[in-house]
Amino acid sequence: MQAVNLQQSMKSLVKLLAFSALLSTAALANEGGFEKANNDVSNVASLQRGARNFVNYCSGCHSAKYVRFNRLAVDLALTDAQVTQNLIFNGGKITDTMSINMSEADAVKWFGKAPPDLSLIARARGTDYLYAFLKSFYLDPSRPTGTNNTVLASVAMPNVLWELQGLQKAVYEGEGAEKHFKGFELVTKGKLSPEEYDEFVRDTVNFLDYIGEPKQLERRALGFKVLGFLLVLFLLAYALKQEYWKDIK
Ligand code: HEC
Repeated sequence: MQAVNLQQSMKSLVKLLAFSALLSTAALANEGGFEKANNDVSNVASLQRGARNFVNYCSGCHSAKYVRFNRLAVDLALTDAQVTQNLIFNGGKITDTMSINMSEADAVKWFGKAPPDLSLIARARGTDYLYAFLKSFYLDPSRPTGTNNTVLASVAMPNVLWELQGLQKAVYEGEGAEKHFKGFELVTKGKLSPEEYDEFVRDTVNFLDYIGEPKQLERRALGFKVLGFLLVLFLLAYALKQEYWKDIK
């Protein structure tokens, strides 16, 4: 009787664990209901492109004050000369951090809001949010910049990537209380196709993900080594067990 009870409670415990595991993965998968960014911080070529995108299109307004250029060189497999030539524009040095020349007061005057430092933005907002944000600027004549964003309503940031993406308008369906956002419609083509633009944004988000936690590159590499070690250990232990029990059975 006892044994049966124990077995049954074990079974419900296992069910409970499985259920909560399912719930937590579902919660993770659905972080805010955004499309997945699907970026990969171990893809160094993508990080290099992301860094290029960042310095060309973002660092005029946004700093990344925890990122030092010589650290980028090491992690992104670039030489110091390559970094100096391609990623440093304001006459800065390889030992500098990614700062900007715009003062906060000027930024507030120009945009109404200071552009935040982006060092930790991927950790603050999540990569899926960033991917969606950079794809969701749309034409809105009622805004001072002529643009709005479905992810961040009344956004102060101008649509800085419009030449690449093109211009899109938001399409709604239904009436009154039923009215809801249906999707975007491209009204002016950009230099990039929609697929190329997605890749551009994915690389940029990948770079933001990496700078949010540069150590994750090392940590992941270490993780795989540890798993490999455990696997070898398991095989050895198993072989040893077979050896010990061979004569007893
Ligand atoms: C012309 C200046 C300018 C440029 C260039 C620019 N931004 Fe911004 N950005 C802003 C301003 C201003 C804000 C503050 C917006 C707000 O809070 O409404 C902002 C806010 C943001 C935010 C925060 C959104 C949030 O949820 O709070 C992110 C992320 C961001 N920018 C990413 C980027 C990326 C990536 C690039 C390059 C592709 C870029 N920005 C280029 C001005 C700029």
